[in-house]
This record gives sequence, C-alpha cells and structure tokens, in this order.
Amino acid sequence: MKDYSYLLPELSALAIQAAHFIKNQSVQAHEIEHKSINSLVSFVDKGAEEIIIKGLKSMLPAASILAEESAPDHPWDSLMWVIDPLDGTTNYLHGLPFYAISIALVADGKSVIGIVHDVVHNDSYTAALGKGSYCNGVKLSVSNNPKLSDSFAATGFPYYDFDKMEAYLECFRYFMKNTRGIRRIGSAALDLAYVAAGKFDFFWEYKLQTWDIAAGTLLVQEAGGIVSEIDGGDQFLKSGHCIASSPQLHPEILEIIKTAFETN
Ligand code: IPD
Ligand code: CA
Ligand code: CA
Repeated sequence: MKDYSYLLPELSALAIQAAHFIKNQSVQAHEIEHKSINSLVSFVDKGAEEIIIKGLKSMLPAASILAEESAPDHPWDSLMWVIDPLDGTTNYLHGLPFYAISIALVADGKSVIGIVHDVVHNDSYTAALGKGSYCNGVKLSVSNNPKLSDSFAATGFPYYDFDKMEAYLECFRYFMKNTRGIRRIGSAALDLAYVAAGKFDFFWEYKLQTWDIAAGTLLVQEAGGIVSEIDGGDQFLKSGHCIASSPQLHPEILEIIKTAFETN
C-alpha cells in the first residue's frame, strides 16, 4: 500500500482553514435547512465543504471525492477522499462546543490517512496507516483498562430511524449498570478521536455514514485499538455499524452489543 503520510501537514493546514471559516459564521434560525427528519444543515457545512474540496483537489488530483453535502452518493473509487465538513451540526447550531471536521483518504476500501479536527478546542487528531495516531503531534494510545466496570463509554443513538430502539435500550440497561458512565457527545468523529486518545474506553453506534467514521476509525486502529461492525465484521466503512475500543475490552463489548442487536 502506498504511503500517503506526506500529505498530512497539508491536510492539517486545510482543516485549520476550514475550521477558521466555521468559527467565524453565525447562523440565523431561518438559514437552517432540514435535509430529512432531524438532519440539519446550513451554509456553514456547505461553505466548509467547498473550502476542503478545493484544497483536496489541488493536493491529490487523482483522488475522487465522497462528501456529505455535495457528493454523498459518489460511487466508491479505488482512491477517494471522504469528507464530513462539520460533524456535530446539531451541536454547532445550538452552540454546544463539540463539533469537528473529518477527512480521510480511502485507498482500495481502507482509510490510509485521516484527520479529525476539533474546531472549538483547536485539536488536530491525525493518523496514517502503519504510522500511529497523534493529537497536535503527541502520540496517542487507546486505554489499557481491562475492566468493563472501570470503563467510560460513548455512543450515538438514533434520531430518525427507530428500528433498533429496543437493541439500544438493551445495551443501555447493561452498560448503565456495568460501566462508569455513558456519554452521547453528538459527533461520531470526536467520539472515535476520544477513544484513540484513551479518554473513552469504547464507542458504539449503528448506521453511521462513511464520512462520520472514515478518519476516526483509522485513528483508533493506529492508536492500538480494535474497530469492528456490531456483528464483528470488518466492513464498517460500508455498513456504518461500528464498535471501537481497546483490545482488552473489545471481545466483551462485542458480545454484549452483538447479542442485543441480534435478539431485538
Ligand atoms: C452526526 C454525528 C452524530 C451521529 C449521527 C451523525 P452530523 O453527524 O456524528 O454523533 O450520532 O449519526 O449523523 O450530521 O452532525 O454530520
Ligand atoms: Ca457526520
Ligand atoms: Ca456533517
């Protein structure tokens, strides 16, 4: 697999440029559009995406682009950028300070470089295949806590498709009693960056989009963690079903979540 890590400095600069744009906007209620039930967007998501696409096209013209706002149905190519220009749009629009830019380069179906840029806290989480994960240049490792009872969990739950409500409730019942706590931050990209950084011990969510997780899953893997689908498979970029954790906790968590989703 070709090494694309040389692109990371330019990618970080581009994310910072898009973050600057996001920080300097202010959205009025009438400027919020509803893409579908509870799926919001504004000129900020679209403007940030334009900045990112322009930069990526000059950085690596050979790669195609799958992007949430302007090219969500782009067919998968052997080399493509996957962009979520603002992950955590609802937080952004409500002034809750947790949202990020997520960009990954996917080669032959696998993320090879990625960045999750935390816009508010100005933290850049970056990873390259085989070269580790970093936050602002400091190397990251997933947690090494071996006990579920000492773990801190993150999830994202349904807000438009409630088919898996019972499965989620089953997971909550178990994890509420058997972990230190569960958080729903509202940005899957940040949830995964926080697993990579060892802040969260694990994260799970059903039915995400490729652009939510293409960068964050690489961050977790390169920080020594395990990412799988909810049934244990490895096609999470395609299915959007994702469990990410430290290697110690993954088998136990997988079993609990898998059983809940199989039986509900
Ligand atoms: C959303 C966030 C959220 C997750 C949703 C995503 P958006 O992305 O990642 O945490 O639960 O499924 O759609 O819409 O803010 O880019
Ligand atoms: Ca998203
Ligand atoms: Ca988004």
